[in-house]
Parts: sequence; C-alpha cells; structure tokens
Amino acid sequence: MNIILLGAPGSGKGTQAEMLSKTYGIPHVSTGDILREEVMKGTPLGEKVKTYMNRGELVPDELVIEILKNRLQEPDCKKGFILDGFPRTLKQAKALDVILSEVGLKIDAVVYIDVADEEIIRRLSLRRTCKSCGRVYNLYYNPPKHDEKCDVCGGKLFIRDDDRPEVVEKRLKVFNEETRPLIEYYEGKKLLIRVNGMNPIDKVFQQIVEKLGLERK
Ligand code: AP5
Repeated sequence: MNIILLGAPGSGKGTQAEMLSKTYGIPHVSTGDILREEVMKGTPLGEKVKTYMNRGELVPDELVIEILKNRLQEPDCKKGFILDGFPRTLKQAKALDVILSEVGLKIDAVVYIDVADEEIIRRLSLRRTCKSCGRVYNLYYNPPKHDEKCDVCGGKLFIRDDDRPEVVEKRLKVFNEETRPLIEYYEGKKLLIRVNGMNPIDKVFQQIVEKLGLERK
C-alpha cells in the first residue's frame, strides 16, 4: 500500500503516519524528518536547507525530489510506504508520478487531513518533539508523563524552530498557496480521501483505517 498524507502544518500527518506505519508494517517517509536530521548533523545539505526551513518556506523542489527519489529506492519501501510532507507542490506531485511509473508503482490513496487554522496554531504552540527518537507530543492533547522527557526513550523534548508563531503563520500561507492545489489534483485522479482532522487522534486514525479499507475493496 502506497499512501500520501496531505494536510496543513500541524494537521497530524506525522502522528497518523506513525500509527499507520505500525499498523500496516510499512515505513513512514517524512521529508521534514529527513531534512531536520541533515540540519541537526550539520551536513552540507543541512546547511543549504536550514534557512528555508527556519523561515517556514519550502525547500527548492529539485533538492526534495532528489531526496525522496533516493529514499523510495531503499529496500524497506518495497513493501509500501506512507509519504508525509511530500509532495507539497504540483511540480513535486508530477515528479512523484514519474518516479513511481518508472518502477511500475502507483499511489493507492491520498488522505487529506482537514483541520481549521486556529486549531493548527494551538496545536503547534504546544508541540514537543523528542530529540533522541523523534516521538511527537502535545502538552495539552497527548502530554508526556514527565515534563520535558520522552516516555519511550527518556530523551529531552524540544520545541521545533519552525513552531514559533510568526513561522507557523508563514507555513500556513505557503500551504494554502503551494500545497492546497494538490487536493484538486488528486481529486481529479480519484485518489483523495478526506478525514476530519479536528477529531481526537484515535478517532482520526479510525476514520483513516476505515476509509482506506473501503478504498481497497
Ligand atoms: P514538515 O516536517 O513536513 O512539517 P509540516 O508539514 O509543516 O507538518 P508538521 O510536522 O508541522 O505537522 P504534522 O502535520 O506532521 O502534525 P503532527 O502530527 O506533528 O516540514 C517542515 C519543513 O521542511 C517545511 O516547512 C519545509 O521547509 C521543509 N519541507 C519538508 N518537506 C518538504 C517538501 N516536500 N518540499 C519542500 N520543503 C519541504 O501534530 C502536530 C501537533 O498536534 C502535535 O503536538 C500532535 O501531538 C498534535 N496532534 C496531532 N493530531 C492531533 C489531533 N487529532 N488532536 C489533537 N492534537 C493532535
């Protein structure tokens, strides 16, 4: 099963991708996570993309398409994948079509997680991420058992640089201008599944699983 999770920043793509990855046993491929790792390691690629990310802008298509292409060639993606944060522009969506058709694959479903802007601002202001294992928390909706420490690995929790209110505002603007047109693109391909992302995490997950099940029949 090859799935795309589409949605505004903070709509819950990463959270749902992790749950789907565990349920279906297929990898969660997040371009945001890959880029953040490069930034943290201080690689030349990380240096190149840092400024775009901290400003809430998109990293140039050419760079992200290359990263994604390489990642999809890794052996774990042979059994399927969940794309989180890619594609984000029409150019990326069309490049993905080409990459997949070259290896005889296709996207089975695109899940659009719909969340109101006010809720996104609230969620991102309270998001905390584990520095060691990347697990995502929310101080209000799914808080860690101990403040500032990861329940799973004990790692330190941090606030993402791009979760500052002024950057979140920019990311929302970029989503509306660059990524929202993909809803229509995938609707046209009869691949789009809409879920109400305003519901609690487990309920959103249930909706996705049910709708993917219906799509697979
Ligand atoms: P990326 O890391 O992809 O960020 P994003 O798309 O902005 O999404 P987020 O990770 O912020 O949110 P999410 O939807 O995963 O929500 P989460 O599950 O964490 O990209 C970062 C940057 O990298 C971009 O700005 C860009 O610069 C660059 N980049 C990445 N990909 C690129 C590409 N393809 N092209 C160009 N540039 C690219 O949830 C958020 C919070 O809400 C958490 O606290 C969570 O616990 C909580 N939560 C989740 N679901 C619920 C729920 N149902 N109810 C209550 N709380 C919830």
